[in-house]
Amino acid sequence: MSEHELRVSKIRNGTVIDHVSGGQSLNVLAILGIDGTEGSVLSIAMNVPSGRLGRKDILKIEGRELNQDEVDVLSLIAPEATINIIRDFEVVEKSRVERPHRVRGILSCPNHNCITQSGEPVRSDFEVLDDGVRCLYCGTIVREHLAQHLLE
Ligand code: CTP
Ligand code: ZN
Repeated sequence: MSEHELRVSKIRNGTVIDHVSGGQSLNVLAILGIDGTEGSVLSIAMNVPSGRLGRKDILKIEGRELNQDEVDVLSLIAPEATINIIRDFEVVEKSRVERPHRVRGILSCPNHNCITQSGEPVRSDFEVLDDGVRCLYCGTIVREHLAQHLLE
């Protein structure tokens, strides 16, 4: 997208998460635990036409540099996402999200008999498979609509 077509202005310092699958940006915020009360300036563009993805979302989080561990879990819902760290208006670091091997405390197990669903203080723990995630407590596999299993 050329300069005069920029939908959201450039930021001075922070993180730009680009090439998020169209419509997933609110789930990205949920995974990152960002709900707007932190006071960081957030800009979101949703369903922007993109050559590579058809439609993409872009999130700009000012004043906060997300680290690779924080963002890798995004690969579950936004496998093509690019993380750009911005300092003084320049992109100083660009990386792709990488699929983690395990995801702890972010997704909830859909099995109501699972110990993680019993009200006990047990953090959810999933192994990441090629085509989904598997609960390490009860073995339940979730393949689709992962975002619906995000913990509040
Ligand atoms: N960006 C921003 N503020 C800045 C610098 C960049 O918001 N000060 C945004 C750009 O608008 C873009 C993303 O960060 O969405 C990556 O910037 P850049 O690497 O310059 O753009 P591209 O080359 O188009 O990125 P890619 O090759 O990853 O598509
Ligand atoms: Zn389970």
